[in-house]
Amino acid sequence: MPNAETAKLLHAFAALADLGEEIAATRDFEQMVRSTLHVVLGALGLRRGAVAEYDAASSAFTFVAAWGMGDDAPSELKFDARQLDEALREAGEPSRYFERRIRSSFRAEFESWQIAIVSPLVVREELVGVILLGGKATEEAFTSDEREVVGTMARHIGVGIHNHRLLREIETRAEENRKLYEDLRSVYRNTVRAFAAAIDCKDKYTQGHSERVGKYSEWIAREMGWDEVSVEEIAIGGYLHDVGKLVVERDIINAPYRIDAKQSSELNRHPAAGFEILAPLHDTEATIPIVAKYHHERVDGRGYPEGLAGDKIPLCAKIVNVADSFDAMTTDRTYKRRKEFPEVVEDFRKSTGKQFAPQPVVALCRALLKELDGETRERRFTRLLGKDYLQKETCRPLLLSLLEELEAGERAAVGSI
Ligand SMILES: [Fe+2]
Repeated sequence: MPNAETAKLLHAFAALADLGEEIAATRDFEQMVRSTLHVVLGALGLRRGAVAEYDAASSAFTFVAAWGMGDDAPSELKFDARQLDEALREAGEPSRYFERRIRSSFRAEFESWQIAIVSPLVVREELVGVILLGGKATEEAFTSDEREVVGTMARHIGVGIHNHRLLREIETRAEENRKLYEDLRSVYRNTVRAFAAAIDCKDKYTQGHSERVGKYSEWIAREMGWDEVSVEEIAIGGYLHDVGKLVVERDIINAPYRIDAKQSSELNRHPAAGFEILAPLHDTEATIPIVAKYHHERVDGRGYPEGLAGDKIPLCAKIVNVADSFDAMTTDRTYKRRKEFPEVVEDFRKSTGKQFAPQPVVALCRALLKELDGETRERRFTRLLGKDYLQKETCRPLLLSLLEELEAGERAAVGSI
């Protein structure tokens, strides 16, 4: 073989050796097979040739690359390799055996295409494809070296196809796993939501409260830049924050009058009871039980159950506290109607630094402003509060001035350190 042609073949095999790395995309793989076939056809001086991949599930060869086979060549050839298994075991070398069977199955086709070499691609005794090559333009016979070259090409492309399939299989499995994980997550979320609805059932005046607190907590945490895993956790913490109410008597929760001190201390057991219920399901440091335990603490230390103040209160509990109060103010209760939005803003202005931590209030204001300014596609607050409740003309300036005041306060706090 002349040197230039040897160089071309070496180039082809160098390209094939890279197949393992280059087959990430189907297009790359097909391109690689096509260019390799062209190089080999050129180097051996052949008029036509093809590489077909074998798919056992559909019992057919599909052409990955074909050159000079004529316009009427089919895109696939039906071939059932499964029937051959028994015979294969007795036949010794699989590629010889497959060659004979493929030749005899497509005698007429190969004659019309003038195929001289049929080289099956066999990996671990499994048929993965075939290389078909026409005769030389010079009509000379193939030398044993040239047959060796074709055999090497067959092994390389066979391994390439095999790897390519493994990769596709891994991708399919990964996709299946991802879907399974998504399904499990949605089952988990739906279970939590069902549980939240059960909590709210006990309190007939606060229907949907837990779910709304879950949502507000989620939106506040996202606005504060929390990562998605933490956002999901705090949403569930919000859904389940009042789970401890399940152990408080229904009459106390539903009392249509102001409850007395004894009843009030019974009601105030619910954060600790919630923690007892949720702690065994999670790490006790985890957001969900912590939220249940501390969502009634106040930053001035006048909350319950422990009277924690300032930084002693976990941030997740501060967020749910704001979400819980926002929902309490903006929904009708048995003993009072909901507040108008300007009053809600005024309450937040008065109580931030006393009941509420500033960061979640700032985040809530920002999230509301984004919706009023049309920066968000979804009108999620409007959907929960009703479209007449949030009026841009009145609400926007109030939120802006509250934000300015809170941010000035934060700057002053930072300056005083
Ligand atoms: Fe509560």
